Amino acid sequence: MPKKFIYHLQSIIILDMKKVGNHNSISGILAVGLALMLNFSLTSSAQTAPAAAPAPVAAAPAAAPAGGGDPVAGKALFNANCAACHKLDDKATGPALRGVAERRDKEWLYKWIHNSSEVIKSGDPTAVALFNEYNKAVMTAFPQLSNADIDNIIAYTSEPKPAPVKPAAGGGEGGAKVESGVSNNVIFGALAVVMAILVVMLYTVNRTLRKIAQNNGVEIPESTSGMSVWKAFAKNQFLVFVTSVFLILSAGYLFYGWSMQVGVDQGYAPVQPIHYSHRVHAGINKIDCKYCHSSARVSKNAGIPSLNVCMNCHKNISAVSDTTNTADYGKPFYDGEIQKLYDAVGWDKTAQKYTGVTKPVKWVRIHNLPDFAYFNHSQHVTVAGIECQTCHGPVETYEIMQQFSPLTMGWCIDCHRKTDVKMEGNDYYKKIHDELSKKYGVTKLTAAQMGGLECGKCHY
Ligand code: HEC
Ligand code: HEC
Ligand code: HEC
Ligand code: HEC
Ligand code: HEC
Ligand code: HEC
Repeated sequence: MPKKFIYHLQSIIILDMKKVGNHNSISGILAVGLALMLNFSLTSSAQTAPAAAPAPVAAAPAAAPAGGGDPVAGKALFNANCAACHKLDDKATGPALRGVAERRDKEWLYKWIHNSSEVIKSGDPTAVALFNEYNKAVMTAFPQLSNADIDNIIAYTSEPKPAPVKPAAGGGEGGAKVESGVSNNVIFGALAVVMAILVVMLYTVNRTLRKIAQNNGVEIPESTSGMSVWKAFAKNQFLVFVTSVFLILSAGYLFYGWSMQVGVDQGYAPVQPIHYSHRVHAGINKIDCKYCHSSARVSKNAGIPSLNVCMNCHKNISAVSDTTNTADYGKPFYDGEIQKLYDAVGWDKTAQKYTGVTKPVKWVRIHNLPDFAYFNHSQHVTVAGIECQTCHGPVETYEIMQQFSPLTMGWCIDCHRKTDVKMEGNDYYKKIHDELSKKYGVTKLTAAQMGGLECGKCHY
C-alpha cells in the first residue's frame, strides 16, 4: 500500500482541521472520521504475514547400525563419494540405497563398491540384472575405500527413515499469501462506514434546519422537503467543500491503489507459478546470475531461463536438503515446488525419464519499462561493468523476487550523471574519451557526458 500517500493525506486533513477550528463541528467530525479511516487502513496494510515458528528439524533417530559401522562417518563418506548418483530414499542415477544391506550380502557389497564392473564381468546374475535395469550406467569404482569405510556407509544407509519434517506453521503448501486483498477489503469497509456517517449527518442537518424553520414559524411544504435538504447542504459551502474533497481524495486513493497493483512499481513482488527462490539458488548455492540469465551479457534482455536449464541440475535434485527451510517455508513446501517443475517439464522422477507431457510455466514479468524507453543490459553489464545488484538489489537474499529500483527516467539520468564510464582496456572509447575529456577539461567522463542524457538514446 502506498503509505507515503496516506501520510500525506492525513497531514492535509489535520492541517484543514487546524485552520477550521471549531467553526463547523460536522465537518470536524467528518475530517476526524476520514483521518481515522486512513490511519486504520495504514495499520492494517502494515501488517505482514504472521510470523511462524521455524520448522522443527527432524531428529535423526538413534539406530542400531548393521554390522557395527559408524553412521556419522558413513554419512560424510556417502555425501562425498556416492551422493552424486545415489539417494537414500529415491532413485537417482543409481538405486535408492536405504536398507541395501538387507537385500545384498556384505561380501557382495564390498566387491561391488570396490569395483562393480568386475562383478558384472564375472557374470554375477544380480549384478548383471542391476546393470541392465540401470541402462548399463557404469558405477565409479572405489578401490580406495576400506571395508571399514564401506561398513560405515552401510551403517548410514541402514538408519531408519526419519519422520517427515512437519511444514512450518503458516508455511507449507499455501506458503504464498495474498496480502493486498485483506487491506483492500478493510478500506472498502471503512469507506462504506464513512458514507453511512455522511448520510446520518445529512439527515440530522435536515432535522435541525426543519426545527429552526418551525421555531421561526416558516411553513415547509412536504413535497419540497427533499429539495430543502440539498439546498441547505449546497448553502453550507464548507460542508460542500469537505464532501467534494473527500470524494475526490477517496477516488484518487482507490485509483492509486488500483494502479499500483496493475502497474509496475518498486517493491512489486508477484506470486510466481513456481516458488523459485533466488536466496536458495544465487545465495546459499552460489549459482552465478549469468548461468541462468546468460543473455544479460550479450543482449538487450537478461531473459528468464528455460526450464531445460533448470533440469541440468534438477534431474538429480528432487529435494532440498534438510537444513533448507525458513520460518515461512518448510522442506515439504520446497520439495513440492520442485515437483511442480517436474510436472511442468514432464519429468517422472521415479522412472528417471521424460513422459512427454509438458505444461509451460508462465512467469509473471516484474520489471517492465514502457515501450517508448530503450534499455540494454549488455551496455550496462558488459560495457559499463555494473553489477546486477546495483540495479536489482541484493537478489541473493530474495526469497521472492521483487523490483528494487524505481525504473523511472529520473533514476536512469541520476546514475548517468554520477557514474564514470569504464575506459580501461576499451579501445572503442579511447579516442572518444581523449577528445571529450579535452572538451570538458576532465580526466574522467560520466555516462552523461558521453551522451547518456540525449533523449534519442533512451527514446525511440
Ligand atoms: C557415477 C555414479 C555412481 C556413483 C558415484 C556411485 N554409484 Fe553406486 N551405482 C550406480 C549405478 C548406475 C548403479 C546401478 C547398477 C549399474 O548400472 O551399474 C549403482 C548401484 C549401486 C549398488 C547396488 C544397489 C542395489 O540395489 O543392489 C550399491 C550398493 C552402490 N551402488 C553403492 C554405492 C556407494 C556406496 C557409492 C559411494 C561410495 C556409490 N555407489 C557411488 C552409480 C553410482
Ligand atoms: C538457477 C537460475 C537463476 C539464477 C542463478 C538467477 N536467477 Fe534470476 N530469475 C530466475 C527465474 C526462474 C526468474 C523468474 C521467476 C522470478 O521472478 O522469481 C528470475 C527472475 C529474475 C529477475 C526478475 C525478472 C523480471 O520478471 O523482471 C531479476 C531481476 C533476476 N532474476 C536477477 C537475478 C540476479 C541479479 C541473479 C544473481 C544474483 C539471478 N537472477 C540469479 C532464475 C535465476
Ligand atoms: C546450477 C544448479 C541449479 C539450477 C540451474 C537450478 N536449480 Fe533449483 N535448486 C538447486 C539446488 C542445489 C537446490 C537445493 C537447495 C538446497 O537444498 O539448499 C535447488 C532447489 C530448488 C527449489 C526448492 C527451493 C526453492 O527455490 O523454492 C526449487 C523450487 C527449484 N530449485 C526450482 C528451480 C527452477 C525453476 C530452476 C530453473 C529456473 C532451477 N531450480 C534451476 C540447483 C539448481
Ligand atoms: C543499470 C541497471 C541494471 C543492471 C546493471 C542490470 N539490470 Fe536487469 N534490468 C534493468 C532494467 C531497467 C530492466 C527492465 C528492462 C525492460 O523492461 O526492458 C531489467 C530487467 C531485468 C530482467 C527481466 C527480464 C528482461 O530481460 O527484461 C532480468 C531477468 C534482469 N534484469 C536480470 C539482470 C541480471 C542477471 C543482471 C546482471 C548480470 C542485471 N539484470 C543487471 C536494469 C539493470
Ligand atoms: C547504475 C547506473 C546506471 C543506471 C541506473 C542506468 N544506467 Fe544507463 N548507463 C550507465 C553507464 C555507466 C553507461 C555508459 C556505458 C558505456 O557506454 O560505457 C550507460 C549507458 C547507457 C546508454 C548508452 C548511452 C550512450 O552514450 O550510448 C543508454 C541508452 C542507457 N544507458 C540507458 C539507460 C536507461 C534507459 C536506464 C534506466 C532504465 C539506465 N540507462 C540506467 C549507467 C547506468
Ligand atoms: C537515460 C535514459 C533516458 C534519457 C536520456 C531520457 N529519458 Fe525520458 N524516460 C526514460 C525512461 C526509462 C522513462 C520511463 C519512466 C517511467 O516509466 O516512469 C522515460 C519517460 C519519459 C517520458 C514520459 C513521462 C514520464 O516521466 O514517465 C517523457 C515525456 C520523456 N521521458 C521525455 C524525455 C525527453 C524529452 C528527454 C531528453 C531531454 C528524455 N526523456 C531523456 C529514460 C530516459
